[in-house]
Amino acid sequence: QKKRFDVAKERYCERRRSGRVVTEQEAWEDHQAQKARVRFGAKDKKQVVDGYEFVFDDLTGFVEESSEAETGKHRGCYSKTAAEKAREGREFLPIHGYREELLKLIEENQVLVIVGETGSGKTTQIPQYLQEAGYTKRGKIGCTQPRRVAAMSVASRVAQEVGVKLGHEVGYSIRFEDCTSEKTVIKYMTDGMLLRELLIEPKLDSYSVIIIDEAHERTLSTDILFALVKDVAKVRPDLRLIISSATLEAKKFSEYFDSARIYLIPGRRYPVEKLFRKCPEPDYLETVIRTVVQIHQTEAIGDILVFLTGQEEIETVETNLKRRMMDLGTKGSEIIICPIYSNLPTPLQAKVFEPAPKGTRKVVLATNIAETSLTIDGVKYVIDPGYFKINSYNPRTGMESLLVTPISKASAAQRAGRSGRTGPGKCFRLYNIKDLEPTTIPEIQRANLASVVLTLKSLGIQDVFNFDFMDPPPENALLKALELLYALGALDEIGEITKVGERMVEFPVDPMLSKMIVGSEKYKCSKEIITIAAMLSVGNSVFYRPKNQQVFADKARMDFYEDTKNVGDHIALLRVYNSWKEENYSTQWCCEKFIQSKSMKRARDIRDQLLGLLNKIGVELTSNPNDLDAIKKAILAGFFPHSAKLQKNGSYRRVKEPQTVYVHPNSGLFGASPSKWLVYHELVLTTKEYMRHTTEMKPEWLIEIAPHYYKLKDIEDTRPKKTQRRIEEASTSKVDTNKKTRTSKVDTNKK
Ligand code: CDP
Ligand code: MG
Repeated sequence: QKKRFDVAKERYCERRRSGRVVTEQEAWEDHQAQKARVRFGAKDKKQVVDGYEFVFDDLTGFVEESSEAETGKHRGCYSKTAAEKAREGREFLPIHGYREELLKLIEENQVLVIVGETGSGKTTQIPQYLQEAGYTKRGKIGCTQPRRVAAMSVASRVAQEVGVKLGHEVGYSIRFEDCTSEKTVIKYMTDGMLLRELLIEPKLDSYSVIIIDEAHERTLSTDILFALVKDVAKVRPDLRLIISSATLEAKKFSEYFDSARIYLIPGRRYPVEKLFRKCPEPDYLETVIRTVVQIHQTEAIGDILVFLTGQEEIETVETNLKRRMMDLGTKGSEIIICPIYSNLPTPLQAKVFEPAPKGTRKVVLATNIAETSLTIDGVKYVIDPGYFKINSYNPRTGMESLLVTPISKASAAQRAGRSGRTGPGKCFRLYNIKDLEPTTIPEIQRANLASVVLTLKSLGIQDVFNFDFMDPPPENALLKALELLYALGALDEIGEITKVGERMVEFPVDPMLSKMIVGSEKYKCSKEIITIAAMLSVGNSVFYRPKNQQVFADKARMDFYEDTKNVGDHIALLRVYNSWKEENYSTQWCCEKFIQSKSMKRARDIRDQLLGLLNKIGVELTSNPNDLDAIKKAILAGFFPHSAKLQKNGSYRRVKEPQTVYVHPNSGLFGASPSKWLVYHELVLTTKEYMRHTTEMKPEWLIEIAPHYYKLKDIEDTRPKKTQRRIEEASTSKVDTNKKTRTSKVDTNKK
C-alpha cells in the first residue's frame, strides 16, 4: 500500500514540477494525492479519518466515502500545517497554489469554467492575479455577482488587499450606486449591471476579462449574460471569459460554452457532523433560538451561522435571542449578534467579518447570501432551518410572489460546508435531508421576463423564442412578457421596440415603473412621478412601527393621508418625501414622524439618478403637486394592468383577471371607507393575496389611458346613466378597435 501511495504522490509531484496544465480528472487526483500526502502512513484498506471513511483505490490513491451520499464525492479532508495556521492572508487561500496554472490556462483558453469550493478565493483572488499578470493594461476586469451586498463587500475586501481606496483601482457598481472612477481596473458588479452595460457597450470594449461569478446561482440576469457574453467572445478573440461556480454543475456550463475547459480548484474542508430533527418543528424560529442557546452553553468556542429567509425573520430572531440571553443572565461568555442581509446599511455589513473579541461568540444571522456568496471566517456551527425566499411568477395571473420555500439538497450541502472551513464543524439541520429536491429550478423558469425581453429587444434580438438560453423559460412566460410590453407601448405590432420602449430601457427599473416615468411627461408631473418611483424603489421600509409605540407611529403615518381622504399610498409617499425636503432633509424630523431616515436618503439618491436619466432622454421636468388626478393618471400610464374593483363582500377583484385580492394591512387605505376602484403597485402573497401600495382612481381613466387593453364591458356597472354616457363618449373617441394584442402571435410565427 505504501508503494501505491508513493505512485500517486510521485505522479502528482512530477506534474507539479513540469508545470503541465491539469485536466479536471488530474486536478481531482491532485487533490487525492494531497490527502495521500497528509494522511501518509495509512495502513488499513479502510480507514476512518476525522469522521470520514477512506478506501484505498487503485487509480487515485483514495476514494472518499462520505457518510452522507448527498454531499457527493468532492469533499476533501486536508489538514492545516502549523505554518499555514500561523499565516493569514492571500497566500493562505487554497487557490494560491494554483495561481500559475490558472493564469496559463486563462491565457490559452478564451473561455474557462472554474469550479472551486466556496471560500477557496475565486472571487477575491482571480481578478488580482489577472491584474498582476498585466491584463488590466488591455482593459478592465469585470466580475459579476448575483447580489448587491456581495459585490460591495468583496470589492471593499479586495481594495483592502490591493491597498487602494475603494472606488479607485478597485470598485463596484450596483443599481443606483456606482462606486468606480476613471482609475478603476477591477470592477465588481451585479449581473444586472453588466446586462445594462451591454446596452451601452455591446462588445464590452473597455473590458479585457469578464468573470461571471457564482454561476451556479443561475439568476435571471446571469442566465441572459451567458448567452450575450458567449456572442461577444466570438467577435472579440482577445476577450477572456471565466465562468466561476461553487458547485459541480461545471459540465453543463462547459457544454454550453462549446466544450470549454474546466478547471477544478481543490478546496479545503474539514468534516462536518450533521445533526437533524426527525420531525420538523412547527415554529422553527423558536427552535433556532433554543439551538443557539444550547450551542452556546454546551459546545466549544466557535462562531454560529444561522440561515434565515429575510430581514423580518432576522430581526425577530435578533430581538428574541437578545431577550432570551438576558433572561438567562450573563452566564458564560457573551454573544455578539451580527445580522447580514441585502438592505443592511454598509457600516453594519463590515461588522460580520470582524473576528469576535476573545471570550465571546459571534452569532451571524444571515440570508442565503452566506451560502456561497460570502464567506465568514471562524464559523464552526451552522443552524439551517432549510428555507429560503424564492421569487416566483405565475404567467397566467401575472402575479409575482416571494415565497418561503424549502432549499435543495445542493444548498443543504453548501450550507453545512460553511461550518467546516477552518476546522471540524457541526451543522444542525431542522429538517430531514431526504425531503429535499436535488437542485433549485433556475430563476429564468419562474420569473417575470418583461424586463429581460425589453433589454433583449433593445439589443436588437428580435426572436426571443430562439434565443440561446441555457435552460429555456416556459413559452407562455415569454408570451406574457411580449403582451405586457406591447400593452405598455414598448413594442409595436410586429414585436419591434418602439420609441417609447427605447426611452423606457434607459431606466434601471421594471417596465411598468419605467412606463410610468416616461408617461408622466404627458401629464406634466414628471417631478412628482420620479419622487414616487424613487420611494417605491426603496421598498416597504419607509415607515417604521416600534412595538411599544405603534399607536403613535400609525397616527404619524396617517397624517400623510389627511385632507383628501383615501388618496392612496402613492400620494402619501410623495407627501412624505416633499415634507422631508421642506424640513431640509432632516433626520430629526424622520425620527419624529416614525420614518426611516436611511430609506429616505436612499430614495433621494435614487431620485437624483432618475432625474439625470430624465434629462438624458429629454423629458421636460414639470411639476404639478396639486393636480392629484394628473399624478394618478401618470401612475396608471404604467400600472393600468394592475387595476382592481371593490366587491360586495369588501374584497377586491382584479379587473382583467378572475382573482380576488385585498388591501394590504400596511396600506393607508386599509380599514378606511373603501374606494370602488384601485390601482396597485404590486401583489404580495402572505396569508392572502395583498395589493401593496394602492391608490384610488376612476374607471373611465382606464379606457382613456389604455383603450387597447380595456373595453367598456370591463368597467361597466350600475352607474347613473349620465356617467355611463360620459364613459362611452370617452371610449368611442379613443378606442381603436382594430388594434389588438397581436405581438405574441407575430412572434410565434417568426419561430
Ligand atoms: O469566491 P470564493 O468563495 O472562492 O472565496 P472568496 O470570496 O474569494 O473568499 C476568500 C477569503 O476572503 C475567505 O476567507 C473570506 O472569508 C475572505 N473574505 C473576507 O474576509 N471579506 C470579504 N468581504 C470577502 C471575502
Ligand atoms: Mg465567490
